[in-house]
Amino acid sequence: MWEKVWKQDKIAFGGDYNPEQWPEETWEEDMRLLKLAHIDTLTLNVFSWAALQPSEETYCFDKLDKIMELARANNMKVCLATGTGAHPAWMARKYPEILRTSEQGIRRKFGGRHNSCPNSSVYRKFSVKLAEKLAERYQKYDNVIAWHISNEYGGECYCENCEKAFRQWLKKRYGTLEELNRAWTTSFWGHTFYDWEEIVLPDLRSEHMESDRTMAQAISLDYRRFNSDSILDCFRLEYEAVKKYTPDIPVTTNLMGAYKPLDYRKWGKYLDFISWDNYPSNEDSVSQIAFHHDLMRGTGGGKPFVLMEQTPSQQNWQPFNALKRPGVMRLWSYQAVAHGSDAVLFFQMKRSIGSCEKYHGAVISHAGHEHTRVFREVAELGRELEQIGSEIIGSGISAQTALMFDWENWWAVEYSAGPSVNLKYKEQVLHYYTALHRQNIPVDIIGEEDDLSGYKLVIAPLLYMTKPGVDERIREFVKAGGTFVTTCFSGYVDESDRVITGGYPGRLRDILGVWVEESDALPEHKSNRFICENQEYPAEILCDIIHLEGAETLAEYQEDFYAGTPVLTENSFGKGKAYYVGTCSGDEFYRDFTRRLCREQQIVPAGEVLEEVEAVRRRGEQTEYLFLLNHGDREQEISIPEQCLELTQGKEYRQGERVFLPAKGVMILRFRR
Ligand code: GLA
Ligand code: ZN
Repeated sequence: MWEKVWKQDKIAFGGDYNPEQWPEETWEEDMRLLKLAHIDTLTLNVFSWAALQPSEETYCFDKLDKIMELARANNMKVCLATGTGAHPAWMARKYPEILRTSEQGIRRKFGGRHNSCPNSSVYRKFSVKLAEKLAERYQKYDNVIAWHISNEYGGECYCENCEKAFRQWLKKRYGTLEELNRAWTTSFWGHTFYDWEEIVLPDLRSEHMESDRTMAQAISLDYRRFNSDSILDCFRLEYEAVKKYTPDIPVTTNLMGAYKPLDYRKWGKYLDFISWDNYPSNEDSVSQIAFHHDLMRGTGGGKPFVLMEQTPSQQNWQPFNALKRPGVMRLWSYQAVAHGSDAVLFFQMKRSIGSCEKYHGAVISHAGHEHTRVFREVAELGRELEQIGSEIIGSGISAQTALMFDWENWWAVEYSAGPSVNLKYKEQVLHYYTALHRQNIPVDIIGEEDDLSGYKLVIAPLLYMTKPGVDERIREFVKAGGTFVTTCFSGYVDESDRVITGGYPGRLRDILGVWVEESDALPEHKSNRFICENQEYPAEILCDIIHLEGAETLAEYQEDFYAGTPVLTENSFGKGKAYYVGTCSGDEFYRDFTRRLCREQQIVPAGEVLEEVEAVRRRGEQTEYLFLLNHGDREQEISIPEQCLELTQGKEYRQGERVFLPAKGVMILRFRR
């Protein structure tokens, strides 16, 4: 399906390796160990800017030359980083403008990483030059399988450079000050701008009260767009630089899941393939991990998808860095593959001995040998992936259900002053995702701009910001027979956070057949209730007061002055149906409601629904793969749905055979099509 970009013949296995932190004499032993663990891919050069460019005029590639030779001599494929994730100290001293300024207005000193101002022309010039030199120098290495630009781009800058660039960005977006004043509703609180130079960045010295609280939503939204675009421009400049010499090597940068500051859906358009770093916290549920895989996969809209980093055992930056229990590293690696990844890569190959990541998990521990649990587990997985060989690679995922998750909408929902601070976008989307995921329903996570026509069911929780065209796409989708669901706090504003007047939910009103007159924000620990198909569910956070305009009531509030009024409605529209969920509820409601929708639409699960066993399918041209992942602590009895080959053991099974899937166990069933 996507072999043109990601030309691998097996699932790549390996990850970040930093030999520059170690004496050369140790490298051969590292190679012995890594090969023993069946590792075939190394991500090199991630933080090497200072080593490669010791001063403005000097570049020194001697060590990297040796490392590249070492990798080649040991048959390792290389994911080559441009190394621009942290600028050198001399650069910060000589050109302080490359340092970022915080939201408080404080210019940072040298230190940390991901520390360059994205709008500094000095940073852009030097980073592009380095990327170009690397591409020129290593273009002949046919074991370079990908470019890894910078590392985990992120953060924000509020410096004067950025302020100037912001004004330019705004001129491009709005053309005239009149248009900007209109979009920003500057007639409120006397904010009218008469000159572009009067515009300042919205930080804690101007519009912001605390992070994520602003007095001017439209300005803060534009700043977020601008900051995401500025950083994306840095990526794109390096992208162009490496493409000059190596047009056929695919380029990526490692994304970070639901990372709020960067609009990854826009970023996804500029990456040749999507890669991301999976670091769940101890509290994250299986569904949450799956959500992030699907979210990341979705940003590529069908591009190849790769797990760039995960820890082989523990992390170092959480308050409590629990070990991955035996089997969990393998299980989560296959979970990534099940959700579309064509690689299993780690941070990191070898534990460093100094600074803040020395206690981060690695394939080679401080003990320095292969006799550790982590090493054994990695080596065993490596062996299995070798055995699986060219299977799975390039196969896709097909879903009939789409869930909307849109970054700009996320920013807008959470910048909103009122109605409730407890209205968290990701949390609300996750309720629906979790319900579907627990029933093994395949889900694509899409943005507001995406095409809906391939789906049977589209769910858009808190579709607060309706960007131009989205209502029309939804209208067409439902008219043609699709099922659409949205919730409270939807259809309120346009892309500049200006309210669409005439009644909520604005442009979605005719599709849903409801008018929302008011919305009650319930304080914490307060709730209302409703009954649907004889089941009682809580109504929390927001309770919309709804008038029917063609829709039918499926459930009513049970309490308060709006008792007896609709909370859940269904509207027939064209050949399809549109549902409005006027409140936030609990797990049982989301489970029952989505189950009902899937049943009505004949959307079938990827596999048998057993407690804590995740079933996911990938589809190739002549094969289909069913991943069965037992996240639970007890073995589960599985019924083999049809004759197949199980790939991890290379064993054939007959239809209807019953097998036991051990706790944390994985089976990958291959069916012929
Ligand atoms: C990120 C970075 C790595 C490393 C790991 C630690 O994913 O990309 O360089 O810092 O976190 O978990
Ligand atoms: Zn800046």
